[in-house]
Amino acid sequence: MARIAKYYRDYGVRIIRGRMQYLWDDQGKRYIDCNTNHGVMFLGHANPYIVEAVKRQVEEAWAVPLNFATPARERFIEAFSKLLPSKFGVVFLQNTGAEAVETALKIAKKLTRRPTAVAFTNSFHGRTLGSLSVTWNEAYRKAFEPLYPHVRFGKFNVASEVEKIVGEDACCVIVEPIQGEGGVNPATRDFLKALREAADRSGAVLIFDEVQTGFGRTGAVWAFQKYGVEPDLFTAGKALGGGLPIGVVVGREEYGDVFEPGEHGSTFAGNAVVMAAAAAASELLLKEDVPAKAEAAGSALAKALSETGSRLALRVKGMGLMLGLELRVKADQFVQPLMARGVLALTAGLNTLRFLPPYMIAKEDVDAIGSAVAEVLKT
Ligand SMILES: Cc1ncc(COP(=O)(O)O)c(C=O)c1O
Repeated sequence: MARIAKYYRDYGVRIIRGRMQYLWDDQGKRYIDCNTNHGVMFLGHANPYIVEAVKRQVEEAWAVPLNFATPARERFIEAFSKLLPSKFGVVFLQNTGAEAVETALKIAKKLTRRPTAVAFTNSFHGRTLGSLSVTWNEAYRKAFEPLYPHVRFGKFNVASEVEKIVGEDACCVIVEPIQGEGGVNPATRDFLKALREAADRSGAVLIFDEVQTGFGRTGAVWAFQKYGVEPDLFTAGKALGGGLPIGVVVGREEYGDVFEPGEHGSTFAGNAVVMAAAAAASELLLKEDVPAKAEAAGSALAKALSETGSRLALRVKGMGLMLGLELRVKADQFVQPLMARGVLALTAGLNTLRFLPPYMIAKEDVDAIGSAVAEVLKT
């Protein structure tokens, strides 16, 4: 029998069932899921609303090329449009976050015919060669260099240097409103405003990568709404598919014709089962007022994480249910001890424990996470 290639650490746990904020392993042990497959399961495992929509769709056509209209795509665009500020009128369909980033870079290049992408220290935008080129951390890039050569990295959150790095050669400026993998680092409003101004002045396309921050997790549908700064294009993925693979780029209506037929495409994009799940996820977001729930649960969790009493804990970072607990020491040593106590968490950067739970985590979950974190950080 072949084996599955190994590039993730093996936790030695076999997960067999999931329901909303919980997962169970084959020993019957229950976990509060603050990993959520790197933020994907924000609407919960096997959420009945999404399960129903997917069940209905699997009896119908699954994969139909983008040359054709389908009811599933129509349902998706209708539901998803309700989540978009009025400036945004066009959606490019892809299958993953990295692909969405690739697409955004291609749109910016085609629109401006300029070479240079401006990105920032500690950024993470994906692992395909293009998205990796605008990802900062050497640990992801080093083995694959040379990457796309025309990338300039500026210092994240240093507004005073923005003017200098966004020149006439820039096709785009790409930034995460809150850096996820890089450490759960929220951008400052001044920084995002400076990027908006520099993009306007230079004619570069301003891209916000909302693959991790987007779709309600930060307490707004899109994190940029919290800042009051709008990009020209933004990406989304992860939670948007309700658990099925999706990535999208959203932009101003006039960008919709940027590609000639053949210049862009993707075999699986707009798959009907994925569209049904994403339509249901979009409906659920509004119906359940998910961002407001994430905001409320997020402040309870932030409070619990700030009260561990551990001298190893430095501060809580993030917004809504995208939270990091920055430590004085490396964070990955605590992931398995937390797991042993029934809490799945992630790391971000070197020193940050990251928590990306589903929006329906309850008070008893928050208490349990707080106690587990306090226990593992006890020295
Ligand atoms: C901000 C951001 N952009 C892009 C990606 C890549 O998404 P995917 O893994 O779906 O390709 C990620 C994944 O973690 C991300 O956090």
